[in-house]
Amino acid sequence: MNALNRKDLLDIKTLSSDEILLICETAKYFKDVFTRDIKSVPVLRGKTVYSLFYEPSTRTRLSFENAAKMLSANVIHVPITNSSVAKGESLIDTARTLEAMNADYIVIRHAAALAPHFLAKNIRASVVNGGDGYHSHPTQGLLDVFSIIEKRGSVKGLHVGIVGDIKHSRVARSDILAFTKLGAKVSVCGPSTLVPDEFKHYGIDITYNFDELLPKLDVVNMLRIQRERQKGWLFPSIREYHLLYSLTEERFNKCKPDINVMHPGPVNRGVEIDDAVVDGPNSIINEQVTNGVAVRMAIFYLLAGGTQLQEEAEGNV
Ligand code: CP
Repeated sequence: MNALNRKDLLDIKTLSSDEILLICETAKYFKDVFTRDIKSVPVLRGKTVYSLFYEPSTRTRLSFENAAKMLSANVIHVPITNSSVAKGESLIDTARTLEAMNADYIVIRHAAALAPHFLAKNIRASVVNGGDGYHSHPTQGLLDVFSIIEKRGSVKGLHVGIVGDIKHSRVARSDILAFTKLGAKVSVCGPSTLVPDEFKHYGIDITYNFDELLPKLDVVNMLRIQRERQKGWLFPSIREYHLLYSLTEERFNKCKPDINVMHPGPVNRGVEIDDAVVDGPNSIINEQVTNGVAVRMAIFYLLAGGTQLQEEAEGNV
């Protein structure tokens, strides 16, 4: 297999473990491009990528745009607040407008779950999901497993803890699927108000006691408290949250010495994780960001048919 035989990349649920591994293998190749003097390859030459972000983003948007530029695509960001969306244009009409201007790929982030799936059914361009509501953030799930494979060789048999605001987290949902598909054991942990019973359906462990879980973990992924998605207070105070669920220096000292500390960003320093741990030797948070570019390059490439690397190796491009 050297291509994703699909038009769109919408979620982790519909990817097989072989497809996830193919994306990771391909990302490894693209990461080498970062070390070249000329950091670009002609894989998407002549193609146009629109980035359509209805929600704020730093990492995902810039990472997709950077990835597409390194593949030599024409990259156009749609400034939502200054676009005709502000005049009431519908999602589908905006997407069809982009398609009328030669869109080959549309990368979308939207507050509504399944908005990318809806677009994918209604336009010819490839749709890549940059995050939809609480539902899915597939490229984050992929870059997270890639980052651990890069560190450890495999995720199989590792115990991965995902901690914090699980309820509102598309990252948690995508990471659970990506890590379990590749054979990791996943536990989720947080206050009971932020870890709903629906997560039992994933066949993972649920715990509310971080201090019991933490020393058992090979990987810990600390999630941000998403105050913008919470209606009302789901825990008594930030102080109490910090007391029970923050990865403090004191807690970190009780971890396995080789634990990998992850965070999808943006980080609330001093809330879910302390400065010293964010910037400490076990943190792979910045590597996750770098790897995000390689993984997104791999996704564009594999959706395009995945043949060009071979042609490039043979000197045909
Ligand atoms: N991890 C992540 O999705 O970050 P952004 O919201 O900055 O894109």
